[in-house]
Amino acid sequence: MHHPAAEAAGFGQRLETVTSAKDPSTVFDRIGGQPVIDALVDAFYRRMDTSAEAKTIRDMHTDDLAPLAAVLKRYLGEWMGGPKLYSQERGHPRLRMRHMRFAIGPAERDAWMACMTGALEEVVDDTDLRVQLAQSFYKLADWVRNDDGNPHDAQHR
Ligand code: HEM
Repeated sequence: MHHPAAEAAGFGQRLETVTSAKDPSTVFDRIGGQPVIDALVDAFYRRMDTSAEAKTIRDMHTDDLAPLAAVLKRYLGEWMGGPKLYSQERGHPRLRMRHMRFAIGPAERDAWMACMTGALEEVVDDTDLRVQLAQSFYKLADWVRNDDGNPHDAQHR
């Protein structure tokens, strides 16, 4: 589902939380709370830091990834329905805008996703949850994309 209000606030494609009368829990609870999100983010940046296919996006980042890892942990906690720690500290995410100075095309999106799907496999045991998260991350990564990778585009002339 599309949530214009959430998108305006910069959280992009908000996670569709699967709930039922039996299981009204948020994704934040289902994944295992902040400790598991922290492990996911650590696995994600370790992959970005070491895998050859992620080299182009690794090079967009500063040498020390630790400060950014701390930010992403709070962002994802909030995105998954946990405490609003990111907004408290940094205000509106403006995620698309914050990524505009980097050229993010399909290749960069896919490299980002490769790191994230690998991290999900490493950290999240629940297959349904893992698939749901991978789909939601893809929507977000494609929403952040600001280049279609087509060399004939006006912006490349
Ligand atoms: C699609 C490919 C992506 C690339 C290449 C990319 C790259 C980057 C880079 C280089 C930064 C550092 C910005 C800085 O130095 O200030 C950054 C920040 C950030 N990225 Fe991404 N990113 C991507 C997708 C995503 C996605 C899908 C998410 C959310 C799940 C995300 C969440 C963030 C957050 C929360 C920050 C910190 C924003 C802040 O300063 O508050 N990024 N990204």
